[in-house]
Amino acid sequence: MLFSIEPKSRREDLYDFDHELGMLVRFLRGSRLTLVTGLRRTGKTSLLKVALNEAGIDYVYVDVRLSMYAGYRDVIDLFVQALNELLRRRSSIRDRVINAFRGVEGLKVSINPPEISVRFRGKPRVSIADLLTRLNEIGEPMIIAIDEAQELRRVNWLRFDRLFAISLIIYRT
Ligand SMILES: Nc1ncnc2c1ncn2[C@@H]1O[C@H](COP(=O)(O)OP(=O)(O)OP(=O)(O)O)[C@@H](O)[C@H]1O
Ligand SMILES: [Mg+2]
Repeated sequence: MLFSIEPKSRREDLYDFDHELGMLVRFLRGSRLTLVTGLRRTGKTSLLKVALNEAGIDYVYVDVRLSMYAGYRDVIDLFVQALNELLRRRSSIRDRVINAFRGVEGLKVSINPPEISVRFRGKPRVSIADLLTRLNEIGEPMIIAIDEAQELRRVNWLRFDRLFAISLIIYRT
């Protein structure tokens, strides 16, 4: 499937990039913050997805492409979708993920099928800081992979730099 237009996620579908892949896997395993930058359509998402699958560490993958008029709910939805994708992909840690997210205000956690959803009504709103803290409580190292991170500039009412600082602190403890 070398010529499919989708980003690749399997090693055998990734052409070249041996050196970059080796480096990225090493960074994912050993450093707190890694940035992948490059021109459009040069394989950043493919490289990231393959590296995530090769690193042997749990991860959530969040594609943060947002519409022009994205609201808080849209941002939360992206993170919750990413958590649900983790639940589907990693059945062996499913119970721990579900338990970690129980009792988060504004979230509904179902067991069968395992799924996390945002409650439509009522305050308080779900906080992303809370989600990151709960993710840490799973007790496994966890990579938070943010694709299209430049899009977060649109969400200028949320301080992502501070949120990332929280995850770096969590990483250290
Ligand atoms: N090394 C590679 N091996 C196989 N396919 C690749 C490789 N690099 C890029 N592609 C293909 O090129 C296209 C663009 O790749 P990808 O989406 O990974 O790039 P990107 O840099 O993330 O792009 P964008 O800037 O749009 O986010 C996809 O069809 C992808 O499958
Ligand atoms: Mg991309």
